Amino acid sequence: MTVWLARWLGPLLLVSLWGLSATASLLRRLGEHIQQFQESSAQGLGLSLGPGAAALPKVGWLEQLLDPFNVSNRRSFLQRYWVNEQHWVGEDGPIFLHLGGEGSLGPGSVMRGHPAALAPAWGALVISLEHRFYGLSIPAGGLEMAQLRFLSSRHALADVVSARLALSRLFNVSSSSPWICFGGSYAGSLAAWARLKFPHLIFASVASSAPVRAVLDFSEYNDVVSRSLMSTAIGGSLECRAAVSAAFAEVERRLRLGGAAQAALRRELSACGTLGSAENQAELLGALQALVGGAVQYDGQAGAPLSVRQLCGLLLGGGGNRSHSTPYCGLRRAVQIVLHSLGQKCLSFSRAETVAQLRSTEPQLSGVGDRQWLYQTCTEFGFWDIDPWHVLSVTQALGSSESALLIRTGSHCLDMAPERPSDSPSLRLGRQNIFQQLQTWLKLAKESQVKGEV
Ligand SMILES: *[C@@H]1O[C@H](CO)[C@@H](O)[C@H](O)[C@H]1NC(C)=O
Ligand SMILES: *[C@@H]1O[C@H](CO)[C@@H](O)[C@H](O)[C@H]1NC(C)=O
Ligand SMILES: *[C@@H]1O[C@H](CO)[C@@H](O)[C@H](O)[C@H]1NC(C)=O
Repeated sequence: MTVWLARWLGPLLLVSLWGLSATASLLRRLGEHIQQFQESSAQGLGLSLGPGAAALPKVGWLEQLLDPFNVSNRRSFLQRYWVNEQHWVGEDGPIFLHLGGEGSLGPGSVMRGHPAALAPAWGALVISLEHRFYGLSIPAGGLEMAQLRFLSSRHALADVVSARLALSRLFNVSSSSPWICFGGSYAGSLAAWARLKFPHLIFASVASSAPVRAVLDFSEYNDVVSRSLMSTAIGGSLECRAAVSAAFAEVERRLRLGGAAQAALRRELSACGTLGSAENQAELLGALQALVGGAVQYDGQAGAPLSVRQLCGLLLGGGGNRSHSTPYCGLRRAVQIVLHSLGQKCLSFSRAETVAQLRSTEPQLSGVGDRQWLYQTCTEFGFWDIDPWHVLSVTQALGSSESALLIRTGSHCLDMAPERPSDSPSLRLGRQNIFQQLQTWLKLAKESQVKGEV
């Protein structure tokens, strides 16, 4: 059973970054749902901050060169940014620049989460910058292939540099104000690269990149999921992992039986399409893997439909009818809960549908940009023939070098998320470490200013 589970969970992450599967699309939808949930609560917060707060945060647009590497190409596009000036002391107060990644950025990006939470302590100005080709920062011409060649991390870093210079002028930022980049996951890598490539412009970076729980080694995603399901600290157990295996075995058994059993399976799991083809069967299993992987990946995040504890509760027959429930029944309930949270009528797993969505060059104005991100993973990161954590391992390697001012912390960008009373001690400690590290850096910045003036 365990071997079987590992076999199925093994390609999970690989596929999740790949984009072309039901696994990826469900995981993405989960991430998007959680982001929207956290941002909508951020707007609520913005309105309750007292006089003047209703005007917060401000949105602005920067004119950026579409091709910063070709002086004869003068085409430009508008890049969106958000500003929270509420805490800013002006003078030589620091600037916290929160970099966007493969999705849209909303007002929550400067109102809540770690950069905003840290801002009062140093009187920082908080600015977030949406990544080119995502959200509303999409050049004229949309997502056609001819346009997408202007989408890469190199272009994004060039945008950071010109934004840094333009925003300094716009907000009359003193030349002695230190700029600190923040980012999570891919944007965490961008933050780290920005500091390494442009140390004269970016004083330090806080990159939050570890995709799963801090205590676990994310190089083996299947191990992580499997171990998390067994981790009693988050509500898992040996029994829970066995129940997940049993539920998947039951789904596979019904798929193999075909006929009425398969039709019942389709109905019971609220699957959108038919299960006749082997391809669709594999996609259905992929969507179910994403459901389990998603519970682990987003465990403890506000807005996540299922925590590991809840998932395990369902699969182990919680909900009052313990004696009659099977892991398969629990999985069915888990599917209903996730579909309900995401506002979906049925569990989508059609490859044709996914491909059609990816072909669409119509920009999505909010959430994750699937087509753009697939393009980036194809052209830049090539996740599936190599170590899927390529980008993250670069970040890690840099973290151990002394010159890179970079902290590696937390769970799936959890330290970037708003603080909550239920936050674990390790998460609090991680945030404290970032706070102390920033304290040290900003003191250093102050000292070098004084020396500079002498
Ligand atoms: C640079 O831009 C010009 C004007 O758009 C274009 O004709 C030329 O092909 C571009 N060069 C490269 C190397 O992309
Ligand atoms: C910009 O800041 C400097 C001090 O850093 C100040 O002397 C100047 O008046 C400011 N300019 C504007 C337009 O606010
Ligand atoms: C418990 O499960 C049995 C068999 O599935 C069912 O007949 C019964 O109504 C259930 N009881 C409750 C309280 O849901």
